Formats: sequence, C-alpha cells, structure tokens
Amino acid sequence: MEVTYEELIKNAIDARKNAYTPYSKFKVGAALLTADNQIIKGCNIENASYSPVNCAERTAIFKAVSEGIMNFKAIAIVGGKDSETDEFSDYAYPCGVCRQVMREFCAPDFEIIVGKSVEEYKVFTLSELLPQGFGPENLL
Ligand code: THU
Repeated sequence: MEVTYEELIKNAIDARKNAYTPYSKFKVGAALLTADNQIIKGCNIENASYSPVNCAERTAIFKAVSEGIMNFKAIAIVGGKDSETDEFSDYAYPCGVCRQVMREFCAPDFEIIVGKSVEEYKVFTLSELLPQGFGPENLL
C-alpha cells in the first residue's frame, strides 16, 4: 500500500501537536516514511539551556534508527508559530543540520515534502536541498 503525500503531511501536523517549544514557540512536526511504509513521527524538543534543541526531523530519524530502521523514502515537514492550526503561513524547510543527518541515512532521491497544509505543499529531493554534500562514502 502506497502512502500519499497528503497522508504523510497529516501525520506531520499530528506530530507537531507534541512539540515542546516554551522558548521559540515555533512548533514543527515531521513524518518519516520508511521503505516498508511505516510512518515515524517527530517533533521539535527545546531546552532551557537552548543548545540541546532537537529538531522535528532529527527526532523522527533518530527514533527510527534507534529502533534499527535505516531505510527511508520520504519525510513531510510542517511548522510555524501559528498556535493550534492545520495551516501555516510559510513552508518549514529543514535546517542544515537536519539535511546533513538525512545525508547520512537517505539516498539522493529521498523526498522532502514541505507543507503549508494538507493541500498545499512542495516536494524536493535530498540532492536538491543538499547538493554536493559530504556523506559516508567520502570516508571509505
Ligand atoms: N526547527 C525544527 O524543528 N526543524 C528545522 O528544520 C528548523 C528548526 C525547530 C528548532 C527550534 O525548536 C525551533 O524550530 C526554532 O528554531
């Protein structure tokens, strides 16, 4: 059974509800699609000491890897300051650190879906968002 972009965005919106963001108030949700069509959700988690913040995308990827899952097809991301809503004024693009973590575990054609809502979204590949990247094969 194929998972649609819309379904993945719905899961990212749902994941965002658990975002712990007392400092930035910027809540992000991510839904990671595994090779065997499991959906693994993640949210951002902040900290009073600021630097230990974990982005939603990395939460989802680290949850998966820590369960032994390392093959991924896509990730949907939504985010914004808008309090409790399913629609966002902007696309939430993954930060540089999250792109680099994707580079570690995902192929160049891994899809990154950024959504403003379930209906309004854009799809990129990892190689489009992180061209000329540094990855595991560089250390062989
Ligand atoms: N954030 C994410 O969760 N993902 C990103 O790719 C960009 C930033 C979070 C981190 C922090 O909790 C808040 O957004 C503001 O930077």
